[in-house]
Amino acid sequence: MADSTHHTDSHPARYDAVIVGAGFSGIFLLYHLRKLGFSCRIYEAGDDIGGTWEQHTYPGVRVDCENWVYQLSMPEVWEDWSWSELYPSGQELRRYFAHIEKKLDIKKDVEFQTKVVNAQFDREKSRWRIETQDGRVTESQFLLACVGIAAKRYTPDFPGAEHFQGAIYHSARWPREGVNVGGKKVAVIGTGSTGVQIIQEWAREADTLTVFQRTPNLALPMRQLQLPREQDFMKTVYPHIFRDRETTSTGTGVESVPKRTCEAPPEEREALYEANWRKGGFHLILGGYFDSLLDPQANRLMYDFWARKTRPRIHDPKKRDLLVPLEPLHPFGAKRGSLEVDYFEAFNQPNVHLVNLREEHIVEFKSHGIVTSSGAYHELDAVVFATGFDGVTGSLINMGLCNTEGKSLEEEWKDGATTYLGLTISGYPNMFHMYGVHGPTALSNGPTGIEMQGRMIIDVIQRMRANRLSSIEATPEAADTWTKRVEKISNATLFPQADSWYMGANIPGKKRQMLNFCGGIPAYEQACTQALSNWEGFTIVQRAHLS
Ligand SMILES: *[C@@H]1O[C@H](CO)[C@@H](O)[C@H](O)[C@H]1NC(C)=O
Repeated sequence: MADSTHHTDSHPARYDAVIVGAGFSGIFLLYHLRKLGFSCRIYEAGDDIGGTWEQHTYPGVRVDCENWVYQLSMPEVWEDWSWSELYPSGQELRRYFAHIEKKLDIKKDVEFQTKVVNAQFDREKSRWRIETQDGRVTESQFLLACVGIAAKRYTPDFPGAEHFQGAIYHSARWPREGVNVGGKKVAVIGTGSTGVQIIQEWAREADTLTVFQRTPNLALPMRQLQLPREQDFMKTVYPHIFRDRETTSTGTGVESVPKRTCEAPPEEREALYEANWRKGGFHLILGGYFDSLLDPQANRLMYDFWARKTRPRIHDPKKRDLLVPLEPLHPFGAKRGSLEVDYFEAFNQPNVHLVNLREEHIVEFKSHGIVTSSGAYHELDAVVFATGFDGVTGSLINMGLCNTEGKSLEEEWKDGATTYLGLTISGYPNMFHMYGVHGPTALSNGPTGIEMQGRMIIDVIQRMRANRLSSIEATPEAADTWTKRVEKISNATLFPQADSWYMGANIPGKKRQMLNFCGGIPAYEQACTQALSNWEGFTIVQRAHLS
């Protein structure tokens, strides 16, 4: 499908909009903009559509949101699609994207294995100049960054890793043919949501599994459901679900109880926790009292409930204290938790070992194992780095963006990211990012926030065309105000008290700041629509004449 003519600076390809990334965000924008008559192209670094679900194929990969809300709302897509499980696997999501392709015909406008390495807005031409790794140049009025939050993986530097004779995998770059660990001694470094998913799978298959844990994952029971094939009833309620999910702060359709934890009598509190616990998933946090992530004492009560439920599942007292400490290391829910099925039971198996990286650290890799500071030597055939990403900001920095003065975004954001409305950046006219920095993003159900932001971006583009505007650009002052607002809301929560990737704290040297808007989807949408309706905080440029 790639254009065979060679597009260089003298003969660039030209579009109204170049969309970078073919996940939920990119697909949503392409589908709607194309229908409105805009010429669009998606540049996708990978081999297929699906975004994060195309990229991540490690064992156990699965979405932690209920499928009812974790999907696109276009009837063409859901009317003849049925989910097999409440929390679909990565494989099922890949089938879902194949279905999307069948219904929406996306790929004809996607160029795969096309990585953007350079992009800068030319004020004179009022167009973006976009360069891809293959040396091609494209010009476009709009640049729509749909690169998600997990495009730049993080691999810590461990001394001697290059001498290790076994296999090393990063969870984000899994061999497509899979990995057979039968009879092998394996290790997983990291217990974030990916680590938990891999550990559950490999505990069953490997000869021995050694888990290197720095921070326990306060994982919640998934309570997976297998669904009947016949789902006609759901089709009648989907439109309501899609409307309702946008009215809840996390976009999940679940709302907190409008009451302070301390105002509820203990029996009432216990009954609410218990009911949410039975529902499974993130209900314990999302459906709790509204101050659960605001008030340390309220948060502690929830933690203690979780610990009471979870500790009995682990037999060994030492492992129990490491996996479910009596004293929490950070507020409950302030780091991304995970949903689990038999994660804690896995540690009862004699072949599963736990190393506490708060007591000892990894000194070096040897040719056949890892040495820790306690002097222990762990013999290994394979090691997984479930060490995550330069989250949220990394994806944008990764594509060679420069402001109109030629300064790189990476350089500009050294001391912290600044955005306006979690949608635009000053110095980057006509560029919008979705599901990224300073939007509801990682604190929300992806497709909910994506569709809401997508509609706003499409509306902006349509109104610009109708009003003959050639460019809009956030003012530095507006961006500064928005960034402070994001920080102020975050400061009122318990999020800053955890060393999380939400806060940029997982990457050495990265500025610590809240990267997500914590005020909830409705408040976010209201702030954005109000500002966008009269171009508040933007410098607008009218098209002079036909050029
Ligand atoms: C947020 O809290 C930090 C740390 O206490 C403080 O330095 C910063 O000024 C606060 N930001 C806002 C906008 O209130």
